[in-house]
Amino acid sequence: MSKITAPKIAPGEAPKTYRVKNFGCQMNVYDGERMGEMLDGQGLSAAPDGEDADLVVLNTCHIRERAAEKIYSDIGRMTKGKTQEKAPMIAVAGCVAQAEGEEIMKRAPSVSMVVGPQAYHRLPDMLEKAVKGGRAADTDMPAIAKFSELPARKRRSPTAFLTVQEGCDKFCTYCVVPYTRGAEISRPFGDLMKEARGLVETGAREITLLGQNVNAWSGPDEAGVHQGLDGLIRELAKIPELQRIRYMTSHPNDFTPGLIAAHADVDKLMPFLHLPVQAGADRVLKAMNRNHSAGGYLRLLEQMRAARPDIALSGDFIVGFPGETEAEFEETLQLVDEVRYAQAYSFKYSPRPGTPAATMDNQIPRDVMDDRLQRLQARINRDQRAFNDATVGKVCDVLIERKGKHEGQWLGKSPWLQSVWLDERSGGSAALGDMVQVEIVEAGPNSVQGVARAAAHA
Ligand code: 5AD
Ligand code: SF4
Repeated sequence: MSKITAPKIAPGEAPKTYRVKNFGCQMNVYDGERMGEMLDGQGLSAAPDGEDADLVVLNTCHIRERAAEKIYSDIGRMTKGKTQEKAPMIAVAGCVAQAEGEEIMKRAPSVSMVVGPQAYHRLPDMLEKAVKGGRAADTDMPAIAKFSELPARKRRSPTAFLTVQEGCDKFCTYCVVPYTRGAEISRPFGDLMKEARGLVETGAREITLLGQNVNAWSGPDEAGVHQGLDGLIRELAKIPELQRIRYMTSHPNDFTPGLIAAHADVDKLMPFLHLPVQAGADRVLKAMNRNHSAGGYLRLLEQMRAARPDIALSGDFIVGFPGETEAEFEETLQLVDEVRYAQAYSFKYSPRPGTPAATMDNQIPRDVMDDRLQRLQARINRDQRAFNDATVGKVCDVLIERKGKHEGQWLGKSPWLQSVWLDERSGGSAALGDMVQVEIVEAGPNSVQGVARAAAHA
């Protein structure tokens, strides 16, 4: 069977519909939305659910295992059995695009565009070229250029992501991010305030500030005074209609007393902190180049809890880092026991090409990793359940984010980022974007059930 090559679209036959498929982290969700907005600006529209799109953007993630392989099989599935004219135009974006670059074009002749996470503002030009039958790869890293060239926000949703900081200079030995997302940059204060106001004008009531090291954000404010993330949060909190602020993901070494204090005195800053630690043994943390100890991490969490006693804690863990012994893994379990996370993510170590850990001695066998992951997840699930159970009987605000599957059913988030199910029949009424006062009446492993008391404020 001959391979499908990039579709040759005659002039006047530019793609009319698009679909962006996001993989990986929230930053990809943000980037995916912005790519969608650019395509809207070029006269395309999002393909309705369940319908084929003329242009598919695969917004990829490279952080763990076989991401690239999955993309190639996805591409195969989209073009299989289709003639060149019927196959969608395909763009590969995101971190796999950055890591593999033009190699993708060679391996997958049906791909028309390859665009890295720092270059996607050039997507419209690339699309124009692709429509004429050309193919283009752009994996430049022109730092800040991207954001200033993107069109204004026009999404409508009660919750929104806002990328404030990108890239990473930490070089943890297992991680590809410093290579795929580049050096740490902070977006300018004024630009962020403008984008946040725009998001609020189109209906956002909660904004989550995003960055690979979001708490490393810094820059001069509009009066020229140097600010850290807490300064930005305090200014955002002054936007009247904005009711909730969150941020992720943080690094333990970038916390400042000011940011800890913000958790005590900025009401709109939600009581939730995602703070990865990765491992509980100091030797492993050193080999990971984390530059902090387990004890230092725990002391930081104590300070956080002192500032905001009800803060819900979340983290990331890697099991089976090269050389991790059983005793060292057990230190991770002990750390989990000590913290009692409200939720946490855990992953098997995945060697990433080009990172220092990939060539370290003593790579851990798969069955040992499987066993450790299972044991760690059992503890995390236990604590998550206990956290949810402990919220039963509490009354809190829930921001309604979407409809449930059943008539009259709504899904929202508690201040502690729990998913809360509400049923209109159980009292009160709700609508998308409402902040509803809710009593939590029942807990499950991954969500809680609430009863609406009254619409607190719309
Ligand atoms: N293998 C497994 N997990 C990883 N992460 C990052 N790199 C790797 C890797 N090579 C995890 C870390 C990080 C999260 C986003 O992904 O826990 O915090
Ligand atoms: Fe990766 Fe470490 Fe940077 Fe996080 S801090 S993005 S884990 S290198």
